[in-house]
This record gives sequence, structure tokens and C-alpha cells, in this order.
Amino acid sequence: MKIAVAKGDGIGPEIMSAVLKIFDANKVPLEYEIVDMGKWVFDKGFSNGMTPEAQQTIERLGVLFKGPMETPKGKGVKSVNVTARKTWNTYANKRVFQTLHGVDTVFSKAGIPIDITVVRENIEDTYGGVEHMLTQDVALSRRFITRPGSLQVIRYAFEMARQKKARRITCSHKANIMKITDGLFLDCFYEVAKEYPDLKADDVIVDDLCMKLVTRPDTFDVVVLTNLQGDIVSDLCAGLVGGLGFAPSANIGDHICIFEAVHGTAPDIAGKNIANPTALLLSGFAMLRHLGLTENAAVIENALLYTLEQGVHTGDFGDKSKPSLNTTEFADAIISNFGKTPELNAKQLIPNKPGTPTPLKLERNTMLVTKEVENEKIIGVDMFIESNEQPDVIAKKCQRHAGVKFNLINISNRGTQVWPTGSVYTNLVNQYNVRFESIDNYPLNQQDVIGLYVSLSGDFKIPSLELLNMWGDKKSYSSAAGQ
Ligand code: NAI
Repeated sequence: MKIAVAKGDGIGPEIMSAVLKIFDANKVPLEYEIVDMGKWVFDKGFSNGMTPEAQQTIERLGVLFKGPMETPKGKGVKSVNVTARKTWNTYANKRVFQTLHGVDTVFSKAGIPIDITVVRENIEDTYGGVEHMLTQDVALSRRFITRPGSLQVIRYAFEMARQKKARRITCSHKANIMKITDGLFLDCFYEVAKEYPDLKADDVIVDDLCMKLVTRPDTFDVVVLTNLQGDIVSDLCAGLVGGLGFAPSANIGDHICIFEAVHGTAPDIAGKNIANPTALLLSGFAMLRHLGLTENAAVIENALLYTLEQGVHTGDFGDKSKPSLNTTEFADAIISNFGKTPELNAKQLIPNKPGTPTPLKLERNTMLVTKEVENEKIIGVDMFIESNEQPDVIAKKCQRHAGVKFNLINISNRGTQVWPTGSVYTNLVNQYNVRFESIDNYPLNQQDVIGLYVSLSGDFKIPSLELLNMWGDKKSYSSAAGQ
């Protein structure tokens, strides 16, 4: 079997060499096609951080084992890590956080075992990176949460929870504030939950989850979240089990899967051969099992667990009174422990049943639609206008443009209503949302909206607008705070 391997930036090549050395020493029946991805590929002028050959190889082989890759902060290029996950629709990011015997944490010392699997949605949310400056003062990010995308990842989480015989599957969200986006995710969760009556399904608001994770992490099992919240919560979980050095990740799609550590390129320790390769190795076990190489995975995992139990450690964890090993020495220590069985959590040796990772050859992009549009009407529009005038002045101007089809309903600023009622204590920025609705909810068409836009544009710059739809008697938009 062949897989694609990208070594990554920073500590990537060091930890990847260590892991592949361990695989080779265990005669893992895999061949590696090294692909060009990462910061240095950006620097060579490939705007998505990978060469066309790399993309072809990964799409041919279906499995990518990758080291971390650098993303410059702020302006400039997009993250190649995120691009890879999105391009190949690896919709579920599975991250397993388990107590490892020999890796001391406050919880292991207190005898509280941790075994949490975070399933993070991997494509949508603010990770679309669709951002605009609406005025010189106001930046806007679009947060996409879709029904089909949510159903894909939530179904994966339930299926995985059933296989794992999970005690509980929890959806975490902020649907109390983001009622439409996180509300949709939560609705999808309970919709899928009906298909899994054998699993205890519940939900928790994400801030409450964070508090509960640091007080009673043992009460959680599988947790499914949207992309950004999932990213933050999974680093928190990494901290619970000893840090980023122990946090593996699998990006699962229907055709292509990517296995990588949660951590980044660790520029502060890159090139020193002192990084901890455990997270990448743990990600490698998930990959070996995905490929049916269960026996190799178990032998190496037992050797790793045994090594950790012996107190062998790299510089980022373990007993500081004992000397630490560098990356290569740590890999060699694991190799020397092949065949040993750890005291705790020993893995059962299940004979290999190699599968075929080769993805289906797709001719066209898959269109995901779960609900056909029915009974839809446009009943208004939110006009996002630029202005530094007071709300009552704006209202007067807008009312002049409302014509015979529209009513000016309200004006908000940063989501807080400032007209017709509001407070002078609300600070304003130079971008308002002016909401118009049709008189008596009369159905409008897009030409009506454009007519209003043209008229209003005589008085204001309007960087964006959103239609107000109704499906049956259900509104498809939120209200302003104070409305
Ligand atoms: P980071 O995860 O690289 O480092 C955070 C801290 O953890 C540092 O002190 C680092 O030394 C330590 N650390 C991380 N991995 C370690 C390991 N294996 N052994 C020992 N110590 C380790 O996070 P940071 O500094 O925010 O990001 C650096 C770069 O990595 C950025 O360009 C970021 O965009 C990228 N990144 C890439 C990811 C990926 O490829 N999947 C994920 C996260 C960040």
C-alpha cells in the first residue's frame, strides 16, 4: 500500500523522520510518496501551499500523513492545513485525548482517568475565511454552518460513538447566542440522535463545557462541536492529558483522509531535534488502523505506552529530575521496546487486514442538498450601510426611500437596536444595519430589493445586503438585541 507523506515545516521533518523510522523498524507494509506541501512551497509561488503534483498524488492515494505546516499570521497566504482539509472534504476532525500512564498531569495524580474524543466539524464556520472590511473601521467574517455539512460530521460522530460503545455523546455549542447558526447545528444533532436510541445524547453550552472539562473531565466521552469551538476545546483537552505533544488528529472524509498531530510547527524548538514525536505517532496509529494495519498499530502502541511507563521522556514532559531524550533517542527507545506489554491499557494484537485506501475516482463535485426550497418568500432586506450620522438622522433619510413597498422596521449597530428605540449609552461604529420589511409581509422579488438599493445608494454607501426570507411561517433571520 502506498500513502502520501508531507514532512511539514519547523519540527515537522524531525518528528516525521522519527515516526517513519519507528514504522520501518516494525516493518509496516507501507510505501511513502513524499509530496511537496508547506511554507516553502508557498514561498516558491504556489498560492495554495502545494504543488499540482502533490494534489494529484494525494487524490490518487487517498491517504495523507502530514507534519505540521506554518501559516503566517494576519495578512497574506491562507493556511495550507485548512486548505487541505477543505479541498478534500475531510469533514470530521477526530481528536482523541487519553490519560497516558507515565505522563503526569493533575488528573492522573488525582486518579481521574480521561478518555475524551472531540469530533470537530472541519470545513465550515469562520474557517471559510470569507472576510471583508465593510468600512475602514469594520471587519466582517461570514460564518457558514450548513445543514448537509453539520449532518455529515454529526453522523460520523454518532457512528464512531456507537463503535466505541461510548457512555455519552454531547453536542457543544453557543446556540443561546448564535441562534440560527449554532441552532442549526444543534437541531441536526438531535435529528441524528433519533437514529441512535442506544446512545445517551445531550448538549452543553461551550463555556459551560470548558468549565466542566477542567473540573470533571471524566464525565465526558464523545463531544461534537463546530469548527472554531472544536479547535479551542481540543487544545484545552490536550492540556488535560499532558499537552500538545500527546494530541493526535485524524481528518476523515468519504474519499480522502489526512492524519496529523494537533500541534503546529513549534518554531521555538525547530531544528534542535528535541520535539516530542508522540502526537504524530498517535496520529500514525489511527492511520494504520484506518488502513487495516491493526497488528502493527498495536505492537508499536504497546511499545510507546511501555516506554512512557518507564519514565522515558522528551524535554516537554515527564520527571525533570531524569534526563530527557532527544527526538531520535526517544524513537529508538520505542523501537527497543517492540514486543513489550505496558502495565495499563495494553492493546490487543489483531491481525492485519490491509484495506485499499484508493479513493473512488470522482467525475464531478458532489452537491450536498438535504432540503428542497419550498414555500419561500422574500419579505424584506437588511441593508448594511456606511454612515457616521446619528440613528434618527439615518432613519429620516431611509424612510424617504422606503416607497410604497417597504417599511423601515429598525436600525441596529453591531447587532444592537438603536432605532426606533435604544439607548444613548450604546456606542456606535460607522456601519449600521437598516432593516426594511415589506408592507403586510407582501412577497417581494429581487428587483424590488434592487430598486430600494439604488434609491438608498443616493444617500449611503451600502457595502452589503442580506435578503430576509420566510419559509412558511418561519423567519430565516435573527432579531437585533433590544428589538
Ligand atoms: P505550536 O503548536 O507550534 O506550539 C505551541 C507550543 O507547544 C510551543 O511552545 C511549542 O514548542 C510546543 N510544542 C508544540 N508541539 C510540540 C512537540 N511536538 N514537542 C514539544 N513541544 C511542542 O503552536 P503555534 O506556535 O501557535 O504555531 C506555530 C505554527 O504552526 C503557526 O504557523 C501555525 O499556523 C502552525 N500550526 C500548524 C498546524 C498544523 O499543521 N496542523 C496546527 C497548529 C498550528
